[in-house]
Formats: sequence, structure tokens, C-alpha cells
Amino acid sequence: MTSVDELKQQQQAFWNGPRGEVWSRRRAFMDAMLQPFEDRLVDEVRRLSPADGPVHVLDVGCGAGATTLALKRALPAAASCLGVDISGPLLDTARARADKSGLNVRFLCADAGAHDFRRGEFDILASRFGVMFFADPAAAFANLRRAASDDGRLAFVVWRSAEENDFMTAGHRAAAPHLPEPPPRDPHAPGPFSLGDPDRVRAILDAGGWGRVELAPLDLPCAFPAERLDLFVDELAPNAQDVAALEPGLGDTVRAAVRDAYGRYVQGGEVRFTARCWMIGAAASG
Ligand SMILES: C[S@@+](CC[C@H](N)C(=O)[O-])C[C@H]1O[C@@H](n2cnc3c(N)ncnc32)[C@H](O)[C@@H]1O
Repeated sequence: MTSVDELKQQQQAFWNGPRGEVWSRRRAFMDAMLQPFEDRLVDEVRRLSPADGPVHVLDVGCGAGATTLALKRALPAAASCLGVDISGPLLDTARARADKSGLNVRFLCADAGAHDFRRGEFDILASRFGVMFFADPAAAFANLRRAASDDGRLAFVVWRSAEENDFMTAGHRAAAPHLPEPPPRDPHAPGPFSLGDPDRVRAILDAGGWGRVELAPLDLPCAFPAERLDLFVDELAPNAQDVAALEPGLGDTVRAAVRDAYGRYVQGGEVRFTARCWMIGAAASG
């Protein structure tokens, strides 16, 4: 079994390697595609914000900073927003965007699951798809609980299961018949679907000291222009980097199968799909 330290190293390498680089370079594409989730997260943080006093928000796994900036824009001027991420390339982009926007937000390069935040520093911990990659989720959510104020609240958007998200798995399913069978994968290993099981999420949050845990289904339509389908297949699809690494010949065959699978989502000049997610909520006390 892979140790926690090895899993951490894998995630560091992944988000500081080609995947972080491509998310950074294609941030406009990704942010437009995931805009419905940004809007919902911002609404949720607004709803949870205390009526008086400045609110202090932590954006966990903030990536290129789109949600950190959107939160700062949407909240009262005295609000503070800190984005935390392990990816150097994504944080470079986030900082450059913040400078350009003139918004007063801060970014921190750290493992959110282990960083020694000031105890009780944040009123709201928010995230769009940034909390599914912890090597030790129980320890990570307990660490985030310590960083929350006594009235602190959590609002995390995560994917539901792979089975419920056909678009996210279409590339892998199309490639599978052409490739050797991969070793069995631990469904709880860090990855997009690691928090898809609601019972597991409740158990992890309970153990981490969070209360009033709620998971609400969040099914939102996402889209991007059909003329960008090739770019998606070659750079952004969940298995794009794996396909690109195959030797020529096999790579061409697999790429064609993946392109065909995603082509089935074209409708009215757009690639359209429903992202099936959870909005996870919890409170630091009771
Ligand atoms: C799917 S991306 C989402 C990025 C961003 N929240 C967005 O919606 O654009 C996941 C992000 O989580 C970050 N991440 C992974 N493990 C992390 C950890 N232990 N601590 C902080 N960030 C982490 C990655 O570097 C990456 O930026």
C-alpha cells in the first residue's frame, strides 16, 4: 500500500508538473467551464457569512485563484480572503491575476491539510474542487477544523462518484479497450472522486471535529465551445496527459477513441455535460 508520504509526494509532483502547468495556461477555459460552480460557491459563502464584523475566508486548493478573487469581489470590503495551494505554477498565476485586478487577496503555498494555520483564523473555509487530493483526509479535515473559528463554517464543492459523472470518465472508458488492464485502484486514494461517498465524507468530518455535516446534491450544467473540443481532448481531459505519453501509433488510436467519446457531447455548437457534485456543509461547533 502507498504510504501517506508517498501519496503527498505524488500530489506535489502532479500539481507542480504538467497538470498544474496546463491548468495554469488554460485557466480562462477551465474557469469559464466551471463558472456555474464559482457562482454557487460565492452565493453559499455570502449566505454563511456572519452578519457583523469582517469575515475571514480560506479558499482551500485555490489553484489559479478564480474563486479567491470572486469571493473578495462579492464580500464586503473588510473581508479577508486567503487562497492556499500546493502548486507553484498555479499560485504564480493567481498572484499575477490578483495584481492585475487590484484586489487585496493573499495566497499561500502550503499543504492545506498539514499547514500550521493560526488557530481559529477563518470564519469560512470554502473550496471548488480543491479538497479531494489530501493524502490523509481525516488528518487534513481535522487540521482545517483547528483553523476555523468557533462559529466557523465550511462550504466545499466536490465531485460525486465516477459512476455518476459520465463526462469525467468518458476519456478513460474510451481508452480502456486499447490499453493493458490497469492495477486495481483504491477508490479512496487522492483524486477527483475520493469524496464521492457521502458516508465516508460524514465519517471523515465527524472524526475531524466538524458538526452539522450536510451533503446537498449539486448538479450543474457545464459547457464549452465545440471548436475547443480538440484542445480539451489534448490538454484538459482527465486522461489527456496519459494519452499524450503513449507511443505514436497506439497514441493515435487511443486519441481518436477519446475524441470520438467526447464528440458525443456536442450539442448546438457546444460541448455540454452535467457535473454531478456535492455541496458539503459543516459547522465548527455542534
Ligand atoms: C481541481 S484543482 C481546483 C483548483 C481551483 N479550486 C479551481 O476551482 O479552479 C485542485 C487544486 O487543489 C490543489 N491541491 C491539491 N492538494 C492540495 C493540498 N494538500 N493543499 C492545498 N492545495 C492542494 C491543487 O494544486 C489544485 O490547484
